[in-house]
Amino acid sequence: MPIKLNTQFLKMDYKDYEKNDLVPAIHKMIHEKTGAGSDYLGWLDWAGQMDESFIQEIEETAKKIQVNSNVLVVIGIGGSYLGSKAIIEMLKPFFPEDNQTEVLYAGHNVSGSYLKQLMKYLDTKEVTLNVISKSGTTTEPAIAFRILRQYMENRYGVEAKNRIIATTDGETGALLELANQNGYQRFVIPQDIGGRYSVFTAVGLLPVAVAGISIREILNGVKQAEVDLNEADIDKNIAYQYAVLRQSLYKEDYSTEILASFEPQLVYLHEWWKQLFGESEGKQQKGIFPASVVYTTDLHSLGQYIQDGKRNLFETMVSFENKSEDLTIHEDVQNLDKLNYLCNTSLHEFNKKALIGTGSAHRDGGVPVMHLEIENFDEYHIGYVMYFFMKACAMSAYLMDVNPFDQPGVEFYKKNTNNLLQQKQETQG
Ligand code: PA5
Repeated sequence: MPIKLNTQFLKMDYKDYEKNDLVPAIHKMIHEKTGAGSDYLGWLDWAGQMDESFIQEIEETAKKIQVNSNVLVVIGIGGSYLGSKAIIEMLKPFFPEDNQTEVLYAGHNVSGSYLKQLMKYLDTKEVTLNVISKSGTTTEPAIAFRILRQYMENRYGVEAKNRIIATTDGETGALLELANQNGYQRFVIPQDIGGRYSVFTAVGLLPVAVAGISIREILNGVKQAEVDLNEADIDKNIAYQYAVLRQSLYKEDYSTEILASFEPQLVYLHEWWKQLFGESEGKQQKGIFPASVVYTTDLHSLGQYIQDGKRNLFETMVSFENKSEDLTIHEDVQNLDKLNYLCNTSLHEFNKKALIGTGSAHRDGGVPVMHLEIENFDEYHIGYVMYFFMKACAMSAYLMDVNPFDQPGVEFYKKNTNNLLQQKQETQG
């Protein structure tokens, strides 16, 4: 199996969960699309049904951008940027390499400093914009797009339209109208795939391909996961085992899940996962709060709390069995730093031991720990594990009796903010 769910640091078994008998029925409900929010289940078998012509269109567009641009600026927020950012951060070098098209982001914050500095940085580069919004009306990316569109028009004149790509709904929304009026190249976000489940549509695939990552390999992993995790029987489906273990822990008042990994490349996978689970489950006064840490860095900041603080935490550790890029600690004749006992140990091996040491310490401190072990650190396994999380999330939310695919709570801050801004306009007017 490309991934394993180890439970050596856990004092429970998924077999003991009282609602286990619901799993096959929920599985049927998901696959027959009869549950709450079932209009948004297009991601379930999306990769398996993908047209070759669509993959080629993404690859050709990416190639064109690589040839004519030093930077692709992706404008989007939430599900419209976190998936591609997660994959790119995992698979691209930490330090940019020359001659590679860089993928940068905008519209995921409302910071004047960020946008000003971004435009200054872009001044010496050739640029393409990919503006992404399913609804086409989200304020943060719309603001960034208004500003960056003007920047592009000032720089490229009428040619700007050939450097702007809109990824949005195929039928409605302000962005669609803008794209049609200005003649931008468009990619369609399928109506039945919501933002946080859209990483394998053009939303995620185009930026990832521009970054030089093989989208075919990613999709191969997703396709395999679609098959492997299409099992009603919980004994054969680790996504459902993970979902059930989360729910068993939640029932015992463990209300915060910490996703923990040992590689800084995974920071944005954590961010993507937090949105996926937080927006899918956190409703009707229910939900497991998703948090994250990167070890061993955070063992020196949050480690104390996790070991010894309020006992409402459980932890899911993510690790890779094999990691090809690694370093080995060498012998030092003087050994003044007393590290010769680590001689010939690789940093990956160090982290593996740190995982076991930390997992058992946290378990003994009263934090239940699950361990998701991914075979290889590569495109295929990353595609696989992201689909695994999406499938587990759907099952977990349904077990909690909430709709995994809506986000009604997000509207409240928008309404208040817009009211305040409109009041200001009226007073000034
Ligand atoms: O998961 C979701 O649907 C949301 O979090 C969206 O991704 C986010 O709000 C951005 O929405 P949009 O793509 O419509 O701009």
